[in-house]
Amino acid sequence: MTKEKSPTGPATGPVAKSRQSLAEVRAALQREESRVAAMMELGRSLTAVTDLDALLHLVVEKITELMEADRTSIFLLDEQRSEIWSKVAEGDDMKEIRVPLGKGICGWVAETGKTINIKDAYQDDRFNPAVDRDTGYRTTSLLCAPMRGKQGQVLGVIESMNKHQGHFSAEDERLLEAVSSQAAVAIENAQLVLGILAKNIELVEAQEMLARKVAELDVLFQLEKEISWGLNADEMLHRLLIKAMELVECEAGSVALLAEDGEELRFSVAVGEKAEEVRKLRLPGGTGVAGWVVQHGQSALVVDASKDARHLGEIEREIGFSVSDILAVPLVAAGEVIGAVEFLNKKGGTFDANDEKLATVIAGQAVAAIETGRRREASDKENRLSAIGQALSGVIHDFRTPMTIISGYVQLMAMEDDEAVRDEQSETVLKQFDFINDMTKELLAFARGESSLLLRQVFTDRLLGEMKDLLQKELEAVGVKLEVNDTYCGPLRVDESKLRRLIYNITRNARQALAQGGEFSISVEEKDGQVQFEFADNGPGIPLEIRKNLFESFVTSGKAEGTGLGLAMVKKIVDEHQGSIVVESPEGGGARFLVSLPKRLESS
Ligand SMILES: Nc1ncnc2c1ncn2[C@@H]1O[C@H](COP(=O)(O)OP(=O)(O)OP(=O)(O)O)[C@@H](O)[C@H]1O
Ligand SMILES: [Mg+2]
Repeated sequence: MTKEKSPTGPATGPVAKSRQSLAEVRAALQREESRVAAMMELGRSLTAVTDLDALLHLVVEKITELMEADRTSIFLLDEQRSEIWSKVAEGDDMKEIRVPLGKGICGWVAETGKTINIKDAYQDDRFNPAVDRDTGYRTTSLLCAPMRGKQGQVLGVIESMNKHQGHFSAEDERLLEAVSSQAAVAIENAQLVLGILAKNIELVEAQEMLARKVAELDVLFQLEKEISWGLNADEMLHRLLIKAMELVECEAGSVALLAEDGEELRFSVAVGEKAEEVRKLRLPGGTGVAGWVVQHGQSALVVDASKDARHLGEIEREIGFSVSDILAVPLVAAGEVIGAVEFLNKKGGTFDANDEKLATVIAGQAVAAIETGRRREASDKENRLSAIGQALSGVIHDFRTPMTIISGYVQLMAMEDDEAVRDEQSETVLKQFDFINDMTKELLAFARGESSLLLRQVFTDRLLGEMKDLLQKELEAVGVKLEVNDTYCGPLRVDESKLRRLIYNITRNARQALAQGGEFSISVEEKDGQVQFEFADNGPGIPLEIRKNLFESFVTSGKAEGTGLGLAMVKKIVDEHQGSIVVESPEGGGARFLVSLPKRLESS
């Protein structure tokens, strides 16, 4: 009988031996199974994660488990810099380490593409102990394999350190190599996704920039529109400033210009609560935020005015307007700083870099407005002079009536003995002098630029009689019949040249609408104490889409060369004369403009 040993006792016999080896095989099998399971899990997870950081983290974790190692690092190749870099060390440490290609174990593997398996790192010359020194870690065994992409190129390396028991086997090597290529493909994909994301971001940024440019153009257009209305530099700047403040969203704004001597700053235009007071301000050169901006030729963004030494707190108190934040940009004309635009108190926040950009665009427009305004003033002066010349002959003509009356009465007075009658006569004479005086005053006011209208007495029938020939010629050229019908035939105190412009513009529109021929009539009648002009044509009528804002600038339709300013000008002339204008455009076609003007407009 063979004596059997208890199973717990030391195995000595052949049966015991085979039992032992069976247990070993079973354990090895179990390990193998869990490795395969870990590998499959890694494979599954790798395909699911596209965020590079998360992916690297996952790879490190799973490989450490799979390799039964203490830690794992992944290094990716930076071809441009001939370096490998790692962001993910195991644990929470996320700092970036960079190693030149060829240096240290990982550098060597990345350069040669060969796997290294070392039992004791310190015995290998290629090992760089500096990392251990830095981290306080002690490396013993080490397995490092290259990660190869789809084309077989090296993308980086994976390094596992300190096998739990003993050192890494040849089998571990094969496993790590296999897992590395799997990881490499996933990393390549993730990088691709990142690349696409970066492209997407670029696209979004390009789109945003485009939107900003469009917004900027819109700002320019809106500002330009305001400028086109102004008659002189100040009026243009005023309109521009109101629009600009609307865009920047602030409580107050001003434009300060350097005086001719180049020293003092004058706030020619101001908008906001204490605009009147600001307009009287004179600042010595270099003082205040505006002064600083002018002196340095740079913009200033002051988020808290009370803490900025440049801000003149005493003026703020004197005027009685509390300033929280300031944005000021220089006005530069032909390379020289001529002033500054200043915005105060951003609504619902403080000014930021975007406002500064907007303000710079606005400043450019303001300079254009100043230059256009100055040119316009100069040409206005010339026009005014020629208008005065023309008007003078008319005025002299008008003088004749009171002069005749005066001379008649003076003769009568000379022969009159009765003092009471003489007093009456002298009263009439004096009244005539008043007329003359009024006429002279008006002419002078216009010459000095104090009034935009040169009011004179015009007889409607004479005016239309004079214009008829000219208009008829134009209309006949396109086959349009003109009819003039004046039942009023009376006097009207208006600016004759402006009234002519009004008539001319409306007629020109009718001629353009009647390009295929038709009829156009101008009628004048007295209505409700006013003089009413009616302009009617039998064309297609006003296009529906522009009826609502027909009299606004730049509203035009169906004309290749139309600027949309004609009717805006007409409206302005009507407004200046304190009149009214309406348009009718019935369904069956035709357009009818009714312009009513007061008979005797007094100069303002
Ligand atoms: N008598 C009319 N019949 C039909 N449409 C008209 C008539 N008058 C004006 N319109 C329409 O109103 C628009 C605005 O006229 P407006 O005179 O302001 O500008 P414009 O004629 O287009 O350009 P501009 O006068 O600056 O050269 C015109 O483009 C046209 O479409
Ligand atoms: Mg027109």
